[in-house]
Amino acid sequence: TAAATAAPQDAFTVHSPNVTYTDADIKSKYTYRTTKVEAGADGKYVATPLETAYDFKTERKVPKTGMMLVGWGGNNGTTVTAGIIANKRGLVWDTKEGCQEANYYGSVVMGSTVKLGTDAKTHKDVNIPFSQVLPMVHPNDLVIGGWDISKMNMADAMDRAKVLEPTLKAQVQKEMSAMVPLPSVYYPDFIAANQEDRADNVLEGSKACNAHVEKLRQDIRDFKTANGLDKVIVMWTANTERYASVIEGVNDTADNILKSIEQGHEEVSPSSVFAVACILENAPFINGSPQNTFVPGVMQLAEKHNAFIGGDDFKSGQTKMKSALVDFLISAGIKLTSIASYNHLGNNDGKNLSSQKQFRSKEISKSNVVDDMVEANHVLYKEGEHPDHCVVIKYMPAVADNKRALDEYYAEIFLGGHQTISLFNICEDSLLASPLIIDLVVLAEMMTRIQWKAASTDGAATTEYKNFHSVLSVLSYMLKAPMTPPGTPVVNALAKQRAALTNIFRACVGLEPESDMTLEHKLF
Ligand code: NAI
Repeated sequence: TAAATAAPQDAFTVHSPNVTYTDADIKSKYTYRTTKVEAGADGKYVATPLETAYDFKTERKVPKTGMMLVGWGGNNGTTVTAGIIANKRGLVWDTKEGCQEANYYGSVVMGSTVKLGTDAKTHKDVNIPFSQVLPMVHPNDLVIGGWDISKMNMADAMDRAKVLEPTLKAQVQKEMSAMVPLPSVYYPDFIAANQEDRADNVLEGSKACNAHVEKLRQDIRDFKTANGLDKVIVMWTANTERYASVIEGVNDTADNILKSIEQGHEEVSPSSVFAVACILENAPFINGSPQNTFVPGVMQLAEKHNAFIGGDDFKSGQTKMKSALVDFLISAGIKLTSIASYNHLGNNDGKNLSSQKQFRSKEISKSNVVDDMVEANHVLYKEGEHPDHCVVIKYMPAVADNKRALDEYYAEIFLGGHQTISLFNICEDSLLASPLIIDLVVLAEMMTRIQWKAASTDGAATTEYKNFHSVLSVLSYMLKAPMTPPGTPVVNALAKQRAALTNIFRACVGLEPESDMTLEHKLF
């Protein structure tokens, strides 16, 4: 039997011969059950259950963690910073609707629960906060820093963003006015020309170079030392860049991207330079914008260095609704035939996206989000058949951060009938994105402390514990265009993305995947 000793911070312990707790780790033996499918000679499928035995090891010590944001002075950067300070200090502020307390609504880690099991006596579900499934960093403990091409201090930048209530701003003003973003790399060709007037905090040189990579690495090291940190996670929440052309010999391999940085090739973007610096510094790097930061060469470099990367593009409002609704419609057997998505916004993100090349990056990342759900249903859709899907974004300064998204979903129902669903989604964009930044940082950090080995696989047993793959596809729930390890499928359906996350974390403590069979309530 297991020597299960709970640490004071543990919300629960697992009582199982497959789970052991030491001071340093939680170790679990976990049987992963899948189904192998082969086409038989008669053209019919043969499905065979498969079992793989894994060992998971999760480091229990929660490290002192820093979060460095690229684009710190933007709407997301200022909002998440103020939000964390407000939570840390337990602030309460007056609004026209009454007193408002700081909270972490919209964060999966801080705001949602996971079913642990069924109460032994009452047979009711026992749910625990997601943050207590494994020993995760608390966002209140994150040390925040970062870079921006605008040198405005964080208090003034928060005013510029026009997101938060004056009564809240007043309480964080002093602390935030002492926070000033580090100078950043600025290659004007990559973001809209209309951003130029805020670029007053830039490193010398308007093309990629080794000096930039070295400076960013030094910034990360300095931040770590100055704050006594064990780890730093870096997040791109700067402006959307145009796509970089992927060119053979330039950014297609790890060696080539390093060479191109050294030679100052104009197709290396600032975000790729940040990614490379983080990979070399072994700081996980996550891209919250849609551009192709992770060109093949950057991805290869990450794999080579066993460094964690994740992306792309925060999935906050319209697309999150889409990845839930389309999953529902198609799973209900309703044939979705078109999605018309329109939105307008008036913040600086909208201003940047009013430029065609930057809009194109967003259009690409917003366009593929239903592919997996359509492809999975060959009853409704023939090979190659796809619903029409159109994405429009307009810049309307007056609405500021209060983005409006209008979506029409048009579907074919029984016997040629039609269903039209119109959605009008209004939300403060940065208040939706900020909790995602927190989730991405907390979860990415958690993933750096989980290792696995396969006791048996289809021929590939491993004896040493290994990290998860460099590309953290487990972060997909928070991302519009989830990046996955090369050659592996992309999952966009929201419920599946959440299930992957919770069930992987459950496996680390030796618990079965969350099952909704509830046979205990059906067979008596
Ligand atoms: P923002 O425009 O307010 O902030 C971006 C900041 O990045 C600005 O302060 C700008 O000065 C800075 N910046 C630009 N280039 C830089 C560089 N090379 N280095 C350092 N800083 C740089 O935009 P916001 O609203 O904060 O959004 C940030 C990004 O997140 C955008 O790309 C947006 O598309 C993306 N995003 C936002 C979502 C949301 O709901 N707010 C959802 C999905 C993605």
